[in-house]
Amino acid sequence: MATITLTKLTKRYGNIGIVHGIDLDIADREFIALVGPSGCGKSTTLRMIAGLEEISAGSIDIGGRVVNDLPPRSRNISMVFQSYALYPHMTVRENLGFSLKIAGAAKEDMERRVAEASTILGLDALLDRRPSQLSGGQRQRVAMGRAIVRDPDVFLFDEPLSNLDAKLRTQMRTEIKKLHAKVQSTVIYVTHDQVEAMTLADRIVIMRDGHIEQVGTPDEVFRRPATRFVAGFIGSPPMNLHEATVDDGKLVFASGEKLPLPGQFKANVATGDRVVFGLRPDDIYPTGHGISSGAAAEVHQIELPITVTEPLGNETLVFVEFNRQDWVSRMLNPRPLRPGERVAMSLDMSQAHLFATETGKTLRS
Ligand SMILES: Nc1ncnc2c1ncn2[C@@H]1O[C@H](COP(=O)(O)OP(=O)(O)O)[C@@H](O)[C@H]1O
Ligand SMILES: [Mg+2]
Repeated sequence: MATITLTKLTKRYGNIGIVHGIDLDIADREFIALVGPSGCGKSTTLRMIAGLEEISAGSIDIGGRVVNDLPPRSRNISMVFQSYALYPHMTVRENLGFSLKIAGAAKEDMERRVAEASTILGLDALLDRRPSQLSGGQRQRVAMGRAIVRDPDVFLFDEPLSNLDAKLRTQMRTEIKKLHAKVQSTVIYVTHDQVEAMTLADRIVIMRDGHIEQVGTPDEVFRRPATRFVAGFIGSPPMNLHEATVDDGKLVFASGEKLPLPGQFKANVATGDRVVFGLRPDDIYPTGHGISSGAAAEVHQIELPITVTEPLGNETLVFVEFNRQDWVSRMLNPRPLRPGERVAMSLDMSQAHLFATETGKTLRS
């Protein structure tokens, strides 16, 4: 059993706070992604869990045991880094077995565990090669194999795919997902890539400046972002976000353009409130070219000028001007559009988001 509980976990370097007392409960065998911009404290948090970094305050509980003062080797954790750190003079087989060897494992036991890890990761044909004779993806797989042979309760990954090209990254992502299904350990996976986090994790923890902004399933953080920051961070292309002022049931934008106040927020705002209006590219589309959500009463029609289009084959990203800025919309079954052309756009207001300008918090009940 490897549940993990972080309680008021804090890291300071001198007077500078890096991680500001985060609380998090992770279930046994759960796959958790820690995601957020560079410098927000993801690696520091992971290294504290691994025992590689001293904690300044709070506590870390793994499998019902407080590990604050335990050295890394006593936490039954394996960590995989962005730099694979393989031993260049050893074969793949020797790299895989090394940690067991220094732990004094019996020869048969070691051979069996290396063979198991090798099979799981498809390394059988490569066991006698040295790292220099492997591709980037194969090296990363050996690094994962080295973590697996130790049969840990918890896997910690710190941006393990960042050194790989885009195609390989997608392949390895799938392999990591399969791997988790096979080994059934608890996983904490750090990445700055929200797509990686969305595709891999059971739950996503979005961090910002040493705080947790939101914890939720991929679906929850996408559909119900708790803050403007999460709304802008999760989703690609990103959500369109514009400041507006509430005036008598309408949203008034800086350009003077207006939109109806979405019904689901009417009870939570009043005239004069300053808000941020958000709409995903899927929820604004040239009329007749979107995913029909059914609730026709909530679809607002407006004519807007095209600024630029980006054809992607099965769909086209259409940029339209609103509030003197570009709004990105997603057009399905595309037809050709010219820049400057004015087109009828549908805005599905039932899917709109509203955040308080001052706090950044959602105004959803
Ligand atoms: N040894 C250190 N001394 C002082 N500041 C540090 C040290 N290590 C990391 N930091 C700072 O802590 C912050 C968080 O770093 P890190 O956890 O590596 O972020 P992330 O992994 O999210 O990119 C950064 O601002 C970084 O500069
Ligand atoms: Mg990092």
